[in-house]
Amino acid sequence: MHLARLQRLKSALTETALDCVAAIAGPNLYYLTGLSFHLSERPTVGFFPREGDPVIVAGILEESKIKSKVPYPLRAFYYTDADGPAAAFREAATALKLSHTQLGVENRRMRVMELRFIESAFGKVVIEAAEETFAKLRMIKDSLEIDLMRQATIIAERALAATLPQIRAGVTEREVAAELVVQMLRAGSEAELPFSPIVASGPNSALPHATITDRVLQPGDLLTLDWGAATGGYFSDLTRTFAIGEIDSELKKIYELVKNANAAGKAAARPGATCANVDAAARKVIVEGGYGEFFVHRVGHGLGLEDHEDPSMHGQNELRLETGMTFTVEPGIYLPGKGGVRIEDDVIVTAHGCESLSRYPRELEVIG
Ligand code: CO
Repeated sequence: MHLARLQRLKSALTETALDCVAAIAGPNLYYLTGLSFHLSERPTVGFFPREGDPVIVAGILEESKIKSKVPYPLRAFYYTDADGPAAAFREAATALKLSHTQLGVENRRMRVMELRFIESAFGKVVIEAAEETFAKLRMIKDSLEIDLMRQATIIAERALAATLPQIRAGVTEREVAAELVVQMLRAGSEAELPFSPIVASGPNSALPHATITDRVLQPGDLLTLDWGAATGGYFSDLTRTFAIGEIDSELKKIYELVKNANAAGKAAARPGATCANVDAAARKVIVEGGYGEFFVHRVGHGLGLEDHEDPSMHGQNELRLETGMTFTVEPGIYLPGKGGVRIEDDVIVTAHGCESLSRYPRELEVIG
């Protein structure tokens, strides 16, 4: 699987001016090698040339992991803390034989530290932005990735089902969040979650990026949960909104609009449609319902090894969807001071439309 990804990268590089791309510890390096590292003060950088075997520079402590994990020939140059990384970067540069050539780097991710080591070791190499090359590669998921995303979704849904009996008027947002996190770990999520869950009640639910508070849930509240699990490095990202007891008629009305917008967005997602088409289909429902000005964000974002990756599902993105792309569909209506509704599913584009990986019901559920 990783060898196939490496080959796809190499053929993608032939369509660019880049002779090689470099990836630091993080999702692109993981995608290409299966090697997962934390960013630390010790730089780890993989170099993937258009021709020849990849090269990696890493601290000596990573040697056994690199030897056991990477399923294709990889030339590794290690450094000790005493020596520092500079010599290992120079050896990597010699091995890659790059000069007067273009090296693509992760322009949104690479730190000044790695860039400086590369600049001084690689001399006459021209540094170019390669974020788009990586993004294009990762946008279409292979079967292993889809399986992992499916699992991450199932884990998140099991965690929700286990948390719901604990939710009622009288408990705080913080208590709900704590339970949800525990239940995700119990259900099999990796400990490092994609993001901190959002638990937003009453007026707080009108904030799309609310952070948890000690607010006590009250009858008449909307309660929005936005949470996700991780497995094998892949994420789920779901949102459901619940009613705590009886809610007023306007809140019921916006709930139905968001539910219909979520369905319309998913119905518009198919090969050949643009990202903008999906946003427009969902937005139309909310605009026609009279709440257009309260749907204040794009309809969704790409999902996979990162919680936000390509494709961005916004109204100006004319990128055409292809089979195997995965993204969220998450319209919302937010009434300041009153409450908000968001319903988020994770979908994969299939031959004729899209499949929602998330199955949890979208009908308004009254709890407490
Ligand atoms: Co999301």
